[in-house]
Amino acid sequence: SVEPPRPLIVKEAEPEVDDGKKKVTILFGTQTGTAEGFAKALAEEAKVRYEKATYKVIDLDDYGADDDEYEEKLKKESIVIFFLATYGDGEPTDNAARFYKWFAEGKEKEMGFNNLQFGVFGLGNRQYEHFNKVAKVVDEILVAQGGKRLVPVGLGDDDQCIEDDFTAWRELLWPELDLLLRDEDDATSVATPYTAAVPEYRVVFHEPANGLVDGKNVISANGHAVHDIQHPCRANVAVRRELHTSASDRSCIHLEFDISGSGLVYETGDHVGVYCENNIENVEEAERLLGYSPDTLFSLHTDKEDGTPLSGSSLPPPFPTPCTLRTALTRYADLLFFPKKAALLALAAHASDPSEADKLKFLASPAGKDEYAQWVVASQRSLIEIMAAFPSVKPPLGVFFAAIAPRLQPRYYSISSSPRIAPSRIHVTCALVYEKTPTGRIHKGVCSTWMKNAVPLEESSDCSWAPIYVRQSNFKLPTDTSVPVIMIGPGTGLAPFRGFLQERFALKEAGAELGPAVLFFGCRNRRMDYIYEDELDGFVKAGALSELVVAFSREGPNKEYVQHKMMEKASDIWNMISQGAYIYVCGDAKGMAKDVHRTLHTIVHEQGSLDSSKTESFVKNLQMDGRYLRDVW
Ligand code: 2AM
Repeated sequence: SVEPPRPLIVKEAEPEVDDGKKKVTILFGTQTGTAEGFAKALAEEAKVRYEKATYKVIDLDDYGADDDEYEEKLKKESIVIFFLATYGDGEPTDNAARFYKWFAEGKEKEMGFNNLQFGVFGLGNRQYEHFNKVAKVVDEILVAQGGKRLVPVGLGDDDQCIEDDFTAWRELLWPELDLLLRDEDDATSVATPYTAAVPEYRVVFHEPANGLVDGKNVISANGHAVHDIQHPCRANVAVRRELHTSASDRSCIHLEFDISGSGLVYETGDHVGVYCENNIENVEEAERLLGYSPDTLFSLHTDKEDGTPLSGSSLPPPFPTPCTLRTALTRYADLLFFPKKAALLALAAHASDPSEADKLKFLASPAGKDEYAQWVVASQRSLIEIMAAFPSVKPPLGVFFAAIAPRLQPRYYSISSSPRIAPSRIHVTCALVYEKTPTGRIHKGVCSTWMKNAVPLEESSDCSWAPIYVRQSNFKLPTDTSVPVIMIGPGTGLAPFRGFLQERFALKEAGAELGPAVLFFGCRNRRMDYIYEDELDGFVKAGALSELVVAFSREGPNKEYVQHKMMEKASDIWNMISQGAYIYVCGDAKGMAKDVHRTLHTIVHEQGSLDSSKTESFVKNLQMDGRYLRDVW
């Protein structure tokens, strides 16, 4: 038979047949895969509960090609469940950004979702100021636009146990869906007990002799026109140097990725996502615990041998295989994160010692909630620590990669260079994460440790490399170079400002008229961690920086922080703001950025003689106008 010619469109429009079935659409905005996992798990359970409805689980980016399509599609929906994560300074995930922009900006216009019944579950972290902002905003706008809220917006808190939050929210959703989707003929459908199946890939083992080689060398060959989270670009480490002096007991690395000839481009203020490798010690430990040789060559499949899909669709997308176990564990598995409850259940299913299985099941059960919170979360027990504590557990690789070890996520860094000065390099400024956990384990941050140990091209042609991609940000200098800028960035919060200053330096060289720029930097001690000191002095001399203000927190008897220095300069700051200054804050969100935010209020309140509600709206307006920007983590 002759295959019919393929249509040229990549994604075929789904035919909208009205088969009388009730339709449920589940949309997700995910960064690390948790929202996607919840979306799929909800669909799986709903399928069992309400067999006659049809379900679609869709990435928000794929849901509509443009704003009109989003609107058109949403208007046609009857039941939609959203899973929306909030990041950084109250921002949506990359794959929800386009949808969120359209939705939040279009709130003034009449969209009329009168037929829509919906639920929103948010994924956030209570430690951050804009806790679950994206989910809350979408929930409110949907109601304002005529939608019917089935359940209160779910506020998942990653600081505690977000899986429990999801479970609790789901229990509120079922009675509502029962009313909408329950099959009237089948009174039992409601009572069907449901246990989620452990997802599992089909694994095929290969003989290395068959001409198959480890996939390591084909990882992100740079053939893509556009590099994004799914298509990173392989970049060599060109330069690596320590920024702290030998007097410091900590470490901060300056690293340069070579992007020449790669097609990768960036702008000052963007972020770089780095897919790094796990530390070899952890990889070897995982190999030992799993009981397979590092050279085991295997591939992962989401279909059965006859090509039909595996039952259940909650599998995460597989990583490129065939590859060896060594490569898979090095590049794709998060071995240090504490296991989710679903992962504990998957471990339990493969424990040969029944008492170990019982203990794992207990930890994952509602009765074991406190023990899980204490023994797993608060103790920061890593996956490999937990596997070591249950030696009879030997999960097959298909289960390990599908249900136990989450995918190793890219780590994001604020780029510390400007393409005007370093067009073929991406600079990163990275503090080493090295801390003792409550169990006495030394936790070495995956990516910062990799950077610390990276071998640069300067030292060896067999240098370190990583798949990387550039994530755009709105953390940008004003287009009018004469507008004053105020930058606040202690520690590695300095990173994007080094890029800003390189940019201003280049602009000045090119003859641009520069407005004043003040930088508030903070570190512990001039002799230890005053990073890029010479360069900063150089920027002052060259006129790229008008004033450099440094707070040393551990030199004198009292802690001096950037916000204290800001108070000393309150009237200068107020003058600059009155002249239209842009204010930038970069660094730690939980402590520093909150304190700086408060300080900014104090300055506006005192210097501007505004009462507290006027102060509040003044700062809000700065934010809305894009004049108060934060790059915080
Ligand atoms: P510390 O470690 O002495 O407390 C960069 O990390 C600098 O930021 C350090 O000097 C650190 O001081 C300081 N820092 C810690 N917490 C801060 C906060 N809440 N506000 C501003 N700076 C802070």
